[in-house]
Amino acid sequence: MTNNIYFIANWKMFGKISSINSINKVISLSKSPKYKKAKIIYCPPYTLLEKFNKKTINTNIQIGAQNFDQLSDNGAFTGSISAKLIKDTGSSYVILGHSENRKIGETNKSINLKIKSALKNNLNVILCIGETLKEKKNKKTNKILAYQLQHCLKNIKEKKNIIIAYEPIWSIGTGLIPTNENLQKIILFIRKILNKNYKSLKVKLLYGGSVNPKNIQDLNKITQLDGYLIGGASQKQHYFIDIIKKTIN
Ligand code: PGA
Repeated sequence: MTNNIYFIANWKMFGKISSINSINKVISLSKSPKYKKAKIIYCPPYTLLEKFNKKTINTNIQIGAQNFDQLSDNGAFTGSISAKLIKDTGSSYVILGHSENRKIGETNKSINLKIKSALKNNLNVILCIGETLKEKKNKKTNKILAYQLQHCLKNIKEKKNIIIAYEPIWSIGTGLIPTNENLQKIILFIRKILNKNYKSLKVKLLYGGSVNPKNIQDLNKITQLDGYLIGGASQKQHYFIDIIKKTIN
């Protein structure tokens, strides 16, 4: 593991106003010098962005959204949200290209345009890439990942505000994770592509998909990872804390 270790909590469509107190212990942990290296980023639903930003003011914790749907900053788009409006809540990150959004029509092209809009609005991007089980079985993983990277990052020169999260789709919410051997190979492959095609030596690379307190110690053996994108387990603060503590010891 490198310097800062990312722990990005993707709350998906969960969380109520009252959920805010369920992050109290994570806030305390983030203030402890022992966990200074932990870069904790909460991505709650849009409805909680402002509340999370207020709650975490004067801490190292940062806040991000899980998507947005308009490329224009403002406009007559009923029910929509833009990068600019997310930024206005005090948030500094956005997850883009999550497979749950790709499944309902998000394309590499639309993700590319959203990345540009996010960067223009000074949001850091967490770009998700990953293959389906069928693609994995057909040994197409590398091809799919290279294609997604190529198209999502097209004409984006400055990549320092982009984090890549490798999330195999078959692993999300299923309890299944790749073997360490497999994951290590894929991470090295993604690094190679980033270094060769994009000269992006410093792009942070995360793993996501069923990360939990039971498998985290094994995952931590994988070199060249900069952290994790965590769904289900991040909503239970004792699980989230357990993952952080087992990673930084
Ligand atoms: P999971 O979700 O940890 O619940 O598998 C990860 C994600 O979808 O980002």
